Amino acid sequence: MAVLESWHVCYKHVPQEIIWTVLVAASPLGGLDSRGMVSDIDKSSVERAYARWAPVYDLVFGAVFDAGRRAAIAAAERACGPAGGRILEVGVGTGISLPDYARKHRLVGIDLSEPMLRKAQERVAEQNISNVEALAVMDAERMALPDQSFDVVVAQFVITAVPNPETTLNEFARVIRPGGEIVLVNHIGAEQGPRRAFEICFAPIARRLGWRPEFRFARLTAWAERHGGVRLVEHKPMPPLGHFSLIRFERLRTP
Ligand SMILES: C[S@@+](CC[C@H](N)C(=O)[O-])C[C@H]1O[C@@H](n2cnc3c(N)ncnc32)[C@H](O)[C@@H]1O
Repeated sequence: MAVLESWHVCYKHVPQEIIWTVLVAASPLGGLDSRGMVSDIDKSSVERAYARWAPVYDLVFGAVFDAGRRAAIAAAERACGPAGGRILEVGVGTGISLPDYARKHRLVGIDLSEPMLRKAQERVAEQNISNVEALAVMDAERMALPDQSFDVVVAQFVITAVPNPETTLNEFARVIRPGGEIVLVNHIGAEQGPRRAFEICFAPIARRLGWRPEFRFARLTAWAERHGGVRLVEHKPMPPLGHFSLIRFERLRTP
């Protein structure tokens, strides 16, 4: 905890782009393909990367992503209502956010990475997080979960890290009940200007983290339009780095 706190104090005094660059440069995923092009994300590279990240993930990304995680949890809890609900955390990772949900909510977590999920299991056991129903290794693009079985799907720092974001979003919409919500928190690329140029230049290196820094918000709204059974209810800028967003979609009761 002391180490985590000193990291938190340190990073506040370092320019944001430098932190971002160092994190990405230190990451274990590949960046360029054999033709020197920006490689896209594939499942085996995600699995390899997070196997390496698992032991240090909380130390590196715990504080940096904390504000976004808390906002996503608050949004999910509001969507469930006062009696509580059933929440699916996709890309639950080390389970870092699981202790922060009120115990009246029933939680299920899935992740592609077994080493990350093992950390989540240890956390659940050590902290006796009794409202976690299940943790399972599962691909977000093909979830072995019944239709309309959750009130909310939460995906924190995940949707731009999966190989096929639109297929994954279709799955999210499938497993929530009508009136339920998809709650995303993520880095979203700039629409134009110097930040857009920076993100495009930076994309090859960022692929090492399995991130798409140039991922545009318009890709999400285009998905919603094509899907037809969801509507955007919120898009709110979030810390850290000022480039993150909280995004909520509601599944329509009558598509
Ligand atoms: C940046 S981490 C975010 C972890 C956690 N949500 C957090 O807030 O720190 C991204 C997570 O998504 C998982 N992931 C990536 N692709 C996935 C997929 N197709 N299915 C399920 N999980 C996936 C990774 O294994 C990793 O644990």
